[in-house]
Amino acid sequence: MPGWELINNREKRELNSIFEKSNGVMFAHAFEKRRNNIFRVRKFEKAVAKFLGVRYCLATTSGTMAQFIAMKAMGVKQGDEVITQSFTFVATVEAILLLGAKPVISNVDDSLNMSPKDLEKLISKKTKLIIPVPMLGNPCDMKKITEISKKYKIPILEDACESLGAKYKKKFVGTHGKVGVYSLDFAKTITTGEGGLIVTNDKNIYKHCMEFHDHGHENNKTRPRGKDTRTIWGLNLRMTELQAAVGLAQLRKLNFIRKKNKINKNFIKNKIKFNKQIEFRRINGDGDLSDTLIFFLKNKKIASKMENYLIKNKIGIKNLPNAIDWHFAGNWSHIFRHVSLYKKNFRTKWNKSRNYLERAIAIPIFVKYSYKDLNHISNKINSFFK
Ligand SMILES: Cc1ncc(COP(=O)(O)O)c(C=O)c1O
Repeated sequence: MPGWELINNREKRELNSIFEKSNGVMFAHAFEKRRNNIFRVRKFEKAVAKFLGVRYCLATTSGTMAQFIAMKAMGVKQGDEVITQSFTFVATVEAILLLGAKPVISNVDDSLNMSPKDLEKLISKKTKLIIPVPMLGNPCDMKKITEISKKYKIPILEDACESLGAKYKKKFVGTHGKVGVYSLDFAKTITTGEGGLIVTNDKNIYKHCMEFHDHGHENNKTRPRGKDTRTIWGLNLRMTELQAAVGLAQLRKLNFIRKKNKINKNFIKNKIKFNKQIEFRRINGDGDLSDTLIFFLKNKKIASKMENYLIKNKIGIKNLPNAIDWHFAGNWSHIFRHVSLYKKNFRTKWNKSRNYLERAIAIPIFVKYSYKDLNHISNKINSFFK
């Protein structure tokens, strides 16, 4: 599952090189001589862009801030409506609120991602942006979502925070819209402890993101940093060299993670698929990240029983149903208290989504599962139904 499983001497070596080769320069800019002209954040961004096949990549402090910066660069402002989905992490909606925009929230379907049908119903004259969220490694139905985006001329920002490495129709998730963002926090496909990435092929959006995340610095190569040119103001949302060093080592492991995920997920899936009581989450396309195996049970009561049974048997669960409070909009009283659109009806508004989510079980797929682990998980799931 996540990159933390594979942290070893390679990350340590990259970190050490900051001290051995760059005299401890942890800042992404300037100090050319002292750092021996080694710029790790820049190198990491280039490597990610190459891996994903996009022109531009910007590293930042978190996935939440990556989304905030990107939305700002795409022109989202106070009063605009931004459509996203009811199953996501709170961060997607928090970033929208931080810009003073209005989150408009769609149901999810049996893929647990944005329902394209619902999306189209929610479009209004005020819609500025569509944010599909490929959750737990499953790509969104980008064919239909892109058709809707083109029909109404509304751009897409993919919140691919949970799905770096997944593909939809042979193209990486996060590279289907105008902009994509990823998280590098400790539970993600690869990690830098905390961190985020913005990717795009749009030069103007990249330029705006780059300047905004660095107090407006244009990084004008003809000037020293203290005399740098600027036209916009911004904030400090920069990644450090420490994070990028770890990121460089982690990125080299991404293809291995993708490959192992698939093998391990398919092993369990093939062993439990004969249970008539199990219905697997629908996967859009065939390139999911496979870091989670999700299935639906008949109802919430059975799902809750299975949750306890799995915990008792020392089998991990990932977000569903144990962390649903953080991932389902129908439970966010602390957020919708402040959003007039949903103040009164947020608990029942997405009942269709609730129905899928409350009877779902998500099994994390670890890269380092042994044959014994995989058999244990599969056998336990099977014996639950006996
Ligand atoms: C779907 C989604 N969006 C955004 C985020 C926020 O990322 P970060 O934790 O890097 O801020 C996360 C992280 O869990 C996420 O899962």
